[in-house]
Amino acid sequence: MLIAGLSPAFRLAANNTRIRSQLYASRLYIEGSAVRKMSKSTPPKVFITRRVPDRGPALLKSECTVTQWDSDEPISREELLSKVQGVDGLFCLLTEKIDAELLDAAGPNLKVVGTMSVGYDHVDLVACAERGVKVGFTPNVLTSAVAELTVSLLLATSRRLKEGIRAVENGSWGTWKPMWLCGPGLDGSTVGIIGMGRIGMAVARCLQPFGVARFVYSDFDEQPKARDIGAEFLPLDEVIASADFLLACCALTSETKGMFNMDLFKKMKNTAVFINTSRGGVVQQDDLYKALVSGEIAAAGLDVTTPEPLPTNSPLLKLDNCVILPHIASATHKARSAMSELTAKNILAGLKGQTIPSEITA
Ligand SMILES: NC(=O)c1ccc[n+]([C@@H]2O[C@H](COP(=O)([O-])OP(=O)(O)OC[C@H]3O[C@@H](n4cnc5c(N)ncnc54)[C@H](O)[C@@H]3O)[C@@H](O)[C@H]2O)c1
Repeated sequence: MLIAGLSPAFRLAANNTRIRSQLYASRLYIEGSAVRKMSKSTPPKVFITRRVPDRGPALLKSECTVTQWDSDEPISREELLSKVQGVDGLFCLLTEKIDAELLDAAGPNLKVVGTMSVGYDHVDLVACAERGVKVGFTPNVLTSAVAELTVSLLLATSRRLKEGIRAVENGSWGTWKPMWLCGPGLDGSTVGIIGMGRIGMAVARCLQPFGVARFVYSDFDEQPKARDIGAEFLPLDEVIASADFLLACCALTSETKGMFNMDLFKKMKNTAVFINTSRGGVVQQDDLYKALVSGEIAAAGLDVTTPEPLPTNSPLLKLDNCVILPHIASATHKARSAMSELTAKNILAGLKGQTIPSEITA
């Protein structure tokens, strides 16, 4: 970075990331190609779009002027467009669409957006890059929590926990019956994973002790770490056809949007269980409903739907063989707190012109 209007020694120092952060800490911070003095009365402004675990806001408040949408409910679009005006940093969630309109409403001060999520399908990365806005996200810190919930959902669905709990509660339990509420077990099964990334891999590791006979997966490329558990990299159709449990662990992209459709469900075993903890948008929900009713597949477990919340009159909710959770895969105290902290660290680094700990690039 070329820094104009400064002595050569100062310029050299300011080009060093470590020294730059010290300059920032002493209220001298780098903006674009110039170093300008930042008075103690004008720290950068950051807007937080919701109540979030305290670690992130506390970190930000130590160096920035923070305003926050003080509610557990999302901010309206109109209010958001107004609140972001003139901010330097934005702390958002997956419920906020970060697009050209919002970036323009924020204006030229905006340097960094930190989303408290690992999914970033709500962020227009090209629009951010065009305006020089850095984007941070929260991979890794939620991986175990999401893997744990994916396994819970798989077991709840395959072992018919929803029907069992309902029977206990409504008195239809009756006597012990040899063939009542049976479902497929994991022991000896084939588990298929679409998207063997951080979460896909963690789910496979969690499932190993259940006696899974075979892990198969589809991704863009073979994932070397998957060899550790003997997982086989196969063409998509082979994964779909061989899986007793098929797990969507991929990101929502233009390629994966709606990929779990009737064509795909028809290629699955009639006895197979489908689990989605990715994003609702990867599934054609009407097709899933038909596949569950017609017996193309045995059951489905979803942590994510379209829309969210799913309307209570959704036909999927009437099905015994469909278990739906309210997008809680990362909902452990530890994961949410770490997500909040990492989002704040991403924003602080972006404000200082430092390398963002977890940056997404277009
Ligand atoms: N339900 C939740 O609360 C929750 C929580 C965290 C993450 N998620 C979702 O999980 C996703 C995965 O997270 P991650 O940390 O494992 O990300 P990741 O990037 O490590 O893994 C995603 C994997 O999917 C693969 N992939 C992408 N497109 C594919 C395609 N067309 N076919 C096959 N594979 C494809 C990628 O190559 C990558 O290996 C996130 O994008 C997010 O949407 C949901």
